Amino acid sequence: MSSNIRVGDLSVNRLGFGAMRVCGPDIWGPPKDRPNAHRVLRRAIELGVNFIDTADSYGPHVDEDLIAEALHPYPKGLVIATKGGLLRPRASAWNPDGRPAHLKRALDGSLKRLKLDRIDLYQLHAPDAKVPFADSVGALADGQRAGKIRHIGVSNVSVAQLEEARRICTIVSVQNEYNLEDRSSEDVLKACERLGIAFLPWYPLGAGNVLKKDKIKSIAKKFQTTPAQIALAWLLSKSPAMLPIPGTASIAHLEENVAAAALALSDQDFAALN
Ligand SMILES: NC(=O)c1ccc[n+]([C@@H]2O[C@H](COP(=O)([O-])OP(=O)(O)OC[C@H]3O[C@@H](n4cnc5c(N)ncnc54)[C@H](OP(=O)(O)O)[C@@H]3O)[C@@H](O)[C@H]2O)c1
Repeated sequence: MSSNIRVGDLSVNRLGFGAMRVCGPDIWGPPKDRPNAHRVLRRAIELGVNFIDTADSYGPHVDEDLIAEALHPYPKGLVIATKGGLLRPRASAWNPDGRPAHLKRALDGSLKRLKLDRIDLYQLHAPDAKVPFADSVGALADGQRAGKIRHIGVSNVSVAQLEEARRICTIVSVQNEYNLEDRSSEDVLKACERLGIAFLPWYPLGAGNVLKKDKIKSIAKKFQTTPAQIALAWLLSKSPAMLPIPGTASIAHLEENVAAAALALSDQDFAALN
């Protein structure tokens, strides 16, 4: 397994697991093969993964239920990061709801489903344009004061929003889209490096699309490895703040992804991808 990274006062392996893909198709409803979802989650732990990302909106609720079914009582040192602030009225909708009353209910629901007294990392899934951002972050700060949240993170934010959140409470992580093909959050990544907080790139494999790019395929061929491993090794080389959370419902892909943490790209290969 890879080196460690700090998430607040916690230390985790630098390659995490994004559990979103173990739900049903379109991240909606239960998986077709529930025992397989359990096996994938358990295999992640066997491979040394000790950071799992989920959200109440995955399923909705299904993902958190699957994690508790597969892994509770949790192994020592496992950090489960969940998120609140998005509603799923139907499979195609991911609607922000950043009202404090909703976030309070969402937090209580996640605690119950995950069978936890306190969530190690609770993230605001996305700012809600209809609600002052400070009110949403303030609701998480209230949850922390109530002892229900250990650390607070934010997701899908700009640098200005990160700064605003940091004026309200301590923020230990940001989760934004970032991969070889989408670097629109480069400024947020740099801010995380400067501030010494973790950056969790979502879609680290571009939801699979990055793997089709010729430049990745050719470097993968040179290393006799796979495009997914190159994409992840590039992220890990890119920044010490990076904590990738690749997702999969396949044990073979999980094993492949975790092994990427041991791959060292040369400066030349890194530059060719950059
Ligand atoms: N904060 C947010 O707004 C937000 C948004 C999206 C995602 N997320 C988080 O980020 C995590 C990662 O995102 P993601 O799972 O959507 O995207 P991803 O990790 O970029 O890609 C996952 C996709 O790639 C495939 N894949 C995974 N490993 C592979 C491999 N070794 N070879 C070939 N294909 C592979 C998977 O299919 P198979 O199942 O067939 O392997 C899946 O379709 C999620 O699990 C979730 O926790 C957060």
